[in-house]
Amino acid sequence: MKPRWAALIMMTPIALLAQKLPSGEAALGTKAYEDYEKPAVCQSCHLDIYMQWTQSMMSQSYTHHWDEIEYFDLAVPHGEKVPEYKAVSDDCNGCHAPLAYFAGDVPPPRPEEGSRANEGVSCEVCHTITGFEGDDPVNFNYISEPGRTKTGPKPGLESPHHITRESDFMKQAAYCGTCHNEMNPYGIWVKSTQLEWQAGPYAEEGVPCQTCHMPKAKGRSAKMAEEGMIAQHLFHGAHDPGKVASVVEIRMHPDAREVEIDEPVTLQVQLFNAKTGHKFPSGSVEDRILWLHVTAEDEAGNTFHLPVDPKGFEGEEYTIASDDLAYTDMAVPLGLKTFDGVGRDGVPVGDRIFRMPYFDEEGVMTIQQWNTRTLGVDYRIGPRETKIEHFTFDIPDDLVPGIVTFTAEMYYSRLVKPVADYLNVPVEEAEPMLVNRATTWVEIYD
Ligand code: HEC
Ligand code: HEC
Ligand code: HEC
Ligand code: HEC
Ligand code: HEC
Repeated sequence: MKPRWAALIMMTPIALLAQKLPSGEAALGTKAYEDYEKPAVCQSCHLDIYMQWTQSMMSQSYTHHWDEIEYFDLAVPHGEKVPEYKAVSDDCNGCHAPLAYFAGDVPPPRPEEGSRANEGVSCEVCHTITGFEGDDPVNFNYISEPGRTKTGPKPGLESPHHITRESDFMKQAAYCGTCHNEMNPYGIWVKSTQLEWQAGPYAEEGVPCQTCHMPKAKGRSAKMAEEGMIAQHLFHGAHDPGKVASVVEIRMHPDAREVEIDEPVTLQVQLFNAKTGHKFPSGSVEDRILWLHVTAEDEAGNTFHLPVDPKGFEGEEYTIASDDLAYTDMAVPLGLKTFDGVGRDGVPVGDRIFRMPYFDEEGVMTIQQWNTRTLGVDYRIGPRETKIEHFTFDIPDDLVPGIVTFTAEMYYSRLVKPVADYLNVPVEEAEPMLVNRATTWVEIYD
């Protein structure tokens, strides 16, 4: 049973109503925590969805330890030292702790204090979104209308606890884009997952984010509901080894099977991005590292590392692992007078890296997306794109003739290891995840 006032609201043109509601930075301090219900309330009827959500990064967007470190050790102090960055550090909460942002409670209490900031991207945050303001979805410009009405994908559902309203917007990629696209104060797109998707094959085929991150399965969305196809709240991404596994399919072949010991072996490796709807990596590209490691092993078990053959494109030096140092701009928020930086890559020298470097004003690589002035070469792997890499193996003197097996392995890590080590980020954030592997062989004779 719907109260009469609800019917009235439903007849009012939504666009008109929405225009008066603040979004983005204008929403700071315009609401109260109490305007939003707690996830525990939804749990009583939507148990499965609730349990899925607690395992996803959405529920940890404020409490996750690496987020806490970057926010409290880098962003907040940066905002104190450089006044232009005060708003930027408050803005983190517009996506990571929306309730605190709406309540004007910034910086919010630390996660250990158990405030409602800890709810992160909660049920209520997402199910009170009615649209977005502006041309592109970016920088939390979603419009939040808390209250008895919850927006959902289906029409005409009855709930004893709330009113439901069908929203087409919730089924679109732009909805996710309001938080998954970010432009920094210098006009740099420091996150562009939805824009990457928009430019790729999945947008053209009408396959939004929800298809891959909220797949539908038969079930009940609430304990008392009828069975139907239900959007699973998995939101599995870079933190799920199974989601990352096999994103790129790898094949590799030599230019000949039988090779004389004084000739080099050349290999081609094909890398096909079969799984992501955007580039890989996407999102927090400043932190992410994806690399290809190729080795040769002779019959005696001696192994040799093959560096990638350079292609000669501009900015390529950032896509081949080196011992260079970077990330010196952390000195400002950390209050260091002298700081040489830490290792740029932390992966075997000579490996191919698929990334897009972010540069500070000195042209040094940074993981502080808010302090990024320019972006370097975009050498990530696009949706359904295939890249080919070449390797040349000059047979070393200590190789034993016979069958030599080559292995190509692709690894992904959410945070460059030297940065993780330096900031005491939990080790799992920098742990290499195996994406895929391929092998081939040649026979070497004297
Ligand atoms: C209110 C802002 C907001 C909205 C709307 C939103 N997200 Fe997110 N999402 C986040 C934040 C913040 C994180 C990062 C959590 C963390 O690691 O701190 C995140 C993380 C994720 C992740 C996990 C990525 C990883 O590294 O494991 C996936 C997948 C994801 N979102 C997909 C979606 C999809 C699909 C939609 C649309 C249906 C969506 N998001 C809508 C804010 C949002
Ligand atoms: C007392 C039980 C109950 C509680 C508490 C409850 N819901 Fe519901 N909700 C339902 C029922 C029943 C439906 C209708 C399901 C159906 O018929 O398929 C529903 C439907 C929905 C829908 C619409 C789904 C669609 O397909 O469009 C959304 C969104 C929703 N609930 C969100 C929430 C949120 C967010 C909370 C917590 C603030 C919440 N609900 C609390 C029972 C509840
Ligand atoms: C990041 C945003 C986000 C969060 C967080 C979120 N939802 Fe949803 N929810 C969605 C979207 C988007 C859909 C519709 C997906 C579609 O149909 O493509 C949806 C669908 C639903 C549905 C209808 C399912 C169906 O297919 O009939 C219910 C019920 C629901 N959500 C409840 C909840 C509850 C309860 C929570 C918290 C435990 C929650 N949601 C958290 C975005 C979110
Ligand atoms: C065709 C399926 C597909 C579509 C469509 C898709 N994704 Fe993904 N997404 C994936 C896969 C697979 C991964 C795991 C690999 C990775 O981490 O990039 C992923 C990873 C992610 C990540 C983590 C990225 C990283 O490297 O840290 C985020 C965030 C994300 N998706 C959000 C979105 C959003 C937002 C959309 C819509 C604009 C979307 N995805 C559309 C398949 C998809
Ligand atoms: C426009 C929305 C938005 C803003 C503003 C924003 N973030 Fe995020 N943040 C996200 C999303 C979405 C992800 C997940 C992307 C992915 O998984 O690759 C994310 C990921 C992260 C991660 C990586 C989490 C992980 O588990 O690897 C950290 C750390 C982080 N944000 C910190 C911050 C800080 C600090 C600020 C403020 C300076 C900030 N964010 C501002 C949306 C935002």
